[in-house]
Amino acid sequence: MRRALVAGNWKMNGRTDFINELMNELVSGIQASAVDVLVCPPAIYLSQVKSMSGSFIAVGAQNVSENPDGAFTGEISLPMLRDLGCEYVILGHSERRSLYAETDLVVADKFIATVAAGLKPILCVGETLEEREQGKTLDVVGRQLKAVIDAAGIDKFADAVIAYEPVWAIGTGKTATSEQAQDVHAAIRAMIAEYDAKTALATRILYGGSVNARNAAELFANDDVDGGLVGGASLKANDFIAICHAADA
Ligand code: 13P
Repeated sequence: MRRALVAGNWKMNGRTDFINELMNELVSGIQASAVDVLVCPPAIYLSQVKSMSGSFIAVGAQNVSENPDGAFTGEISLPMLRDLGCEYVILGHSERRSLYAETDLVVADKFIATVAAGLKPILCVGETLEEREQGKTLDVVGRQLKAVIDAAGIDKFADAVIAYEPVWAIGTGKTATSEQAQDVHAAIRAMIAEYDAKTALATRILYGGSVNARNAAELFANDDVDGGLVGGASLKANDFIAICHAADA
């Protein structure tokens, strides 16, 4: 049985005071949980969030360098994330792919480095609206996924999480229907099973894209949806707590 994971991707949002308030509310609202709960603040606030996160909320980063410590101005290394107590790293988010030109190969390098450092990657995949309308959803998702499996090896997926985030659903208020999400999640699991059936059964596949307190329960009720990667709603304590409870049902 896969344990659900609800992850908040705060993106480039937050200030010290706001984060203090949000974390205090989350920590008191999530006392014990049958699901894994994760927050991914901007890197500059990781330390603050980790110091407040308590026993039931894990902390992760939104991106990382594939390189070791050294002359890479402006970058953040995996040993630094580990030093701060991070457990997860979001990789290949569509905003990084589209705005920062991260290719499948770069994402694969980051994935390999993340696993080697002992952190858990959350590998994001997803199609644009145009790709969906052209019937290319599974081609695109398959290409993004296989690029990483082929480079890293399926044995590196033991602790990996996949996040299916249709680009057209991110920040738009337009959520994939429960059926659209389940169809793609099942296809992703089948793609992993082509490499290894056991890994396919164990891998958590999260849905992301306008998840909120109202639609979470229906999305999470699908057999192959093992939780969510939540953007906007993860910045509102009550909404994020409700989404965590929806995954707990
Ligand atoms: P929204 O929940 O704001 O649509 O963002 C989804 C997302 O990109 C999470 O990584």
